[in-house]
Amino acid sequence: MTVSVLMCPPTHFAVSYRINPWMRPEQPTDAVLALAQWRNLRAAYRDLGFDVRLVDPSPGLLDMVYAANGGTVIDGIALTARFRHAERAAEGPAYAAWFRSAGLDVHDAHHVNEGEGDLLPVGATIYAGSGFRTDPRAHDEAARVFGREVVGLRLIDPRFYHLDTAFAVLDPAGGPGSVAYLPSAFDDASQEVLRFRFPDAVIVTEPDAAVLGLNCFSDGRTVVHAPQAEKFAAELAERGFGTVGIDTSELRRGGGGIKCATLELRR
Ligand code: ARG
Repeated sequence: MTVSVLMCPPTHFAVSYRINPWMRPEQPTDAVLALAQWRNLRAAYRDLGFDVRLVDPSPGLLDMVYAANGGTVIDGIALTARFRHAERAAEGPAYAAWFRSAGLDVHDAHHVNEGEGDLLPVGATIYAGSGFRTDPRAHDEAARVFGREVVGLRLIDPRFYHLDTAFAVLDPAGGPGSVAYLPSAFDDASQEVLRFRFPDAVIVTEPDAAVLGLNCFSDGRTVVHAPQAEKFAAELAERGFGTVGIDTSELRRGGGGIKCATLELRR
């Protein structure tokens, strides 16, 4: 089945506020470079045969390029996002309008959730982050809306504030080795859950996670990843995945990478 993704060009990209430790408003960003890197990512997806949809960037919403936070789409159902910080609040309705225009079955969220940044399906289960952004009450909401089991995972390292910065889905179909993660980003109970559910997971090193290596996108066969995450890429290749390195270092200055710039539209 064709993979469909939603992306938003970083037309208005800048780092003018700080809501995560990666963002340094005092250091100017390069909007031209950000756009060039984003276009490379889009080209890589098109080369893989993905159906890439675009949402219009809104002026003033500099974080809108991180489409993964715009909502969660599973089985044609869209749960809208509700952002933790006022700076991003208007992105929720902007993405919701796109979901409606695309004919998705839209459910408006009551609790704070930052979309796929914290809600990631693996097989029939949704893994859900909390600790920095998404409210644990949103986990129950997601379980109701999607009719799926939701397993909460608690994040404890402020650099890895969204689940998709510390946990990567390598095979959406699931299985004991279908994910990769950085154990130290999670509290003890969550690490226990991860060990139990994914005994063959790829355990990523701290340096590879610190270049947002886990913020990669996989269709189950090919993983599009940060080229700086060298050990991780080698391990993926060893496990039989195709690997495509795409540098999104300029987007990392806003605290996001490849996965953050990608919202999967699951029909
Ligand atoms: N500056 C954005 C924020 O802090 C980055 C979001 C990154 N997105 C992600 N899915 N991790 O909210």
